[in-house]
Amino acid sequence: ALRRAGNIHWQHLDVDKAARARIKGQVPRVLWFTGLSGSGKSTIANLVDKRLHAMGYHTFILDGDNVRHGLNKDLGFTAEDRVENIRRVAEVAKLMSDAGLIVLVSFISPFRAERRMARELFAPGEFVEVHIDTPLAVAEQRDVKGLYAKARAGQLRNFTGIDSPYEVPEAAELRLDTVSESAERLAQRVIDYVTG
Ligand code: PPS
Repeated sequence: ALRRAGNIHWQHLDVDKAARARIKGQVPRVLWFTGLSGSGKSTIANLVDKRLHAMGYHTFILDGDNVRHGLNKDLGFTAEDRVENIRRVAEVAKLMSDAGLIVLVSFISPFRAERRMARELFAPGEFVEVHIDTPLAVAEQRDVKGLYAKARAGQLRNFTGIDSPYEVPEAAELRLDTVSESAERLAQRVIDYVTG
């Protein structure tokens, strides 16, 4: 359980978010990639990141697998831990967007309530939910990390899509169908949305 400290006051900062972003010639955004394990989140986020970077935007990627090696290494995959995982990464994304960055967040983020909580931290239009819509059967067929096989064999519990739920986004700004289009084209759709 989280304990709240008392006697904490908000410290006003004179340089605001817009000023920090202006110096970079960009508008802060959070591109929130959500989808099953093996759906292609990291692949597409990386392509978007690479291209935006090459265009001169100051970006940063927060990736589930990586953040779980550091900041969130105390968290596992129970529903409670996933909620805390997403809460922390949403707050980190907020700090990064306050710094004026374009932040790409690539986490399964399986629960609607936590994605909504993350969205509510940002101004209207700033948070862009990108659903990497890959059917379970396809992600499982690819099984790049061999985790679906382990989950099916009962060697890995609470695996998303097998014995832990994935709540499909109902109103994502972008829905990317990885079965009918290439990662390159889908990445371009995200870039067009952000820069268009
Ligand atoms: S979550 O649900 O948002 O908290 O998950 P996330 O932080 O994105 O971490 C997902 C990656 O962790 C690996 N992994 C698992 N995923 C789902 N369920 C279980 N039980 C699990 N155990 C380990 C897996 O490699 C995920 O990476 P991606 O890139 O999504 O395939």
